[in-house]
Amino acid sequence: MATQSTLPPRTSGSHPRVDGPLKVTGAAKYSSDFNLPGTLYAVPVCATIASGTIVTMDTSRAESMPGVKAVYHRGNFGKIFRAAPPVGFSGILDEKRRPFEDDIIRYYGQYVAAVVALTFEQAVAAANAVKVTYKSSPLNVGTHFSEAEATDKPNVDSHRGDPDASFSTAPVKVDQTYATPVETHNPIELHASVADFDGQRFTLYETTQAVCNAQNVMAQMLGVPIENVRVISRFLGSGFGGKLWPWPHALIAAQASRNLGRPVKLVVTRDMMFQNVGHRPRTQQRVRLGATKEGKLVALMHDSLNHTSLLDDYSEGCSEATPYSYSVANLRATSAMVRRNVGTPTSMRGPGAVPGLFALESAIDELAIELKIDPIQLRLINEPAKDEGLNLPFSSRHFVECLKVGSEKFGWSRYTPAVGSMKGAGDQAGLTLGWGVAGCSWIAERCDTNASVELLMDGTARVSCATQDIGTGTYTVLSNVVAERLGIPNDAVEVVLGDTNLPPGPISGGSWATASVIPAVLDAIDKAQQTLFTIATSGPDAAFASKKEDSLAITNGRVHLKTSDASTGIPFGEILSKANVRAAAGQGKSSGTFGAPGRKFSTHSFGAQFAEVTWQPEIARLRVSRVVTVIDAGHILNPKPARNQVEGAVVMGIGMALFENTRYDARNGAPINNNLADYILTTNADAPSIDVTLLDHPDMVLNALGARGVGEIGLAGIAAAITNAVYHASGVRVRELPVSIENLLRSPGNVQA
Ligand code: MOS
Repeated sequence: MATQSTLPPRTSGSHPRVDGPLKVTGAAKYSSDFNLPGTLYAVPVCATIASGTIVTMDTSRAESMPGVKAVYHRGNFGKIFRAAPPVGFSGILDEKRRPFEDDIIRYYGQYVAAVVALTFEQAVAAANAVKVTYKSSPLNVGTHFSEAEATDKPNVDSHRGDPDASFSTAPVKVDQTYATPVETHNPIELHASVADFDGQRFTLYETTQAVCNAQNVMAQMLGVPIENVRVISRFLGSGFGGKLWPWPHALIAAQASRNLGRPVKLVVTRDMMFQNVGHRPRTQQRVRLGATKEGKLVALMHDSLNHTSLLDDYSEGCSEATPYSYSVANLRATSAMVRRNVGTPTSMRGPGAVPGLFALESAIDELAIELKIDPIQLRLINEPAKDEGLNLPFSSRHFVECLKVGSEKFGWSRYTPAVGSMKGAGDQAGLTLGWGVAGCSWIAERCDTNASVELLMDGTARVSCATQDIGTGTYTVLSNVVAERLGIPNDAVEVVLGDTNLPPGPISGGSWATASVIPAVLDAIDKAQQTLFTIATSGPDAAFASKKEDSLAITNGRVHLKTSDASTGIPFGEILSKANVRAAAGQGKSSGTFGAPGRKFSTHSFGAQFAEVTWQPEIARLRVSRVVTVIDAGHILNPKPARNQVEGAVVMGIGMALFENTRYDARNGAPINNNLADYILTTNADAPSIDVTLLDHPDMVLNALGARGVGEIGLAGIAAAITNAVYHASGVRVRELPVSIENLLRSPGNVQA
């Protein structure tokens, strides 16, 4: 455990979102809101087969239609380059194929052409008029995987001891296979690119969770120097990972703008979102647990498969949390991929750990039942003293406290383990209750970050970083941190994000943005203060003439001698005005933790999920009625948006457990439920009472404020907590998500026909 002798400088209190008013009044500009003079509209033509080749393409009618400026395809699109393999978090893209690179169709909806016209309607009409004929070949969008069809030997992700031998001799065993379906990110804001080529430089308004990476990839693929590409992403209507890396539509818009010399806007439609911009792949995971009769784990094996596209290797990484979750001497985690005729998968909120913990935490529940040990007790018995995968101490792990606090809040002492043994009362009279619990975890790291802070003449401050806010609260948290440090009101801090012209910042992904940006911003504040103190002490007329810079401090926005009371201070704006200096600026920097040599700690967030379902066996009706979530994510900088992130994740987790499932038509490979009516997401009506507790144990290994991140962890474990509760209520163990009425009709509580 990392120790701390003094408490870190803390932010305090819950602050509302600084971007809230902009969003609710429509003043926040999302990518597709940028309407540049002379903008043309691009609409892609999508393949109507999932496997085969293009035989003929007739664009003549489309080209002669009103308003049409161009119909692009392989023959006339112009040169696009391949991107080099990424370095760290720069240069990443999932679908590496260049748009229109060849005539081979590998998934339904693949772009085969794109129309550019004066209006969106003209472009849609002309796209529909492009005639393409195909030669189809056999396709596979099947949802069942076998190890034999894996593309390669399984990768050994983690290994210790002798798991095979210890499993075979273990007195108590669980050996089950769990599956999670294809899930499609459905941010409300559609993916969009507005590309503007001025003859030399590209300005790209992109829906991206990583402007710096987008700049790098787009420059490489467009074949221009990186300084000739500027990427802007001021606001995002979320992304869930689907907007982390560039997709082909961005190249289409940029190249069309270069070809035509006019701005080009391309908005990916909702149905294209199911084809062309990634998804969480289907996973199939075998989990084997061996334990003593007392419940001590002796063997853990976790072998996962996920599908990927024909062109790209995307490994979901289901065993992300497996090596360190429990104490077990013998462990092996492996992963492999199988190929399907689908677009390339990508990260989706909590990639790896979220499907992985569905499997692991379901298996732990099955083991508890087998052992007749309380599922919380079983987890306590196997609590590790360190990360046994890395053989490193945890920087800060409070999983046991999460379980204890959660079990008190949830009322776990009233739990009776027999299936169907708990009955509702009051509003829940006549319903069977099911209770389930699961652990959760998520990686806590930092990326390289630069930031700048300027103290301005008018007494306000500006903080700038080329990271972006996907809606999680980055604008808000940065304003809070700067305001608190300088002792000025939140609304006296301007936060500028989402532009590659700003100091390079991290991806909004992995729940790393906050932990990454904070140290760089704190450093920038220090540097800006030093600049200010130099100004304050320089020259005979200076406010603190003849004093030493290091004798000064800033409190409540006022500069004063450390030895004097803060109330004697002079507002920093006055010092700058007097010196006639517009701004005291500081450039801050912090380095990433990935692959850092000499690592001394394992850094993760933890949590416990408790779910209650109500169950009516007579009509197979299931509802999630109550969720208690306790999260250990380090120091919580601003509880309001943090809680909101976890609540949103829990709601999404109900969707993962009960609803979300992208289904492909086996005949042509088309996603069938490619819209918000047929792809079922959790709505307000499905959302239960959600009680979120954020423990507040600073993780001083990660940064000076002890903050980790909260964007993803709330989605981990929740599906298992729900299916564990479903088992408790109904006796049906659902190992393949989502839970369906068909599953539940098998309930022992149902009248058999
Ligand atoms: Mo998250 S899947 O890293 O946006």
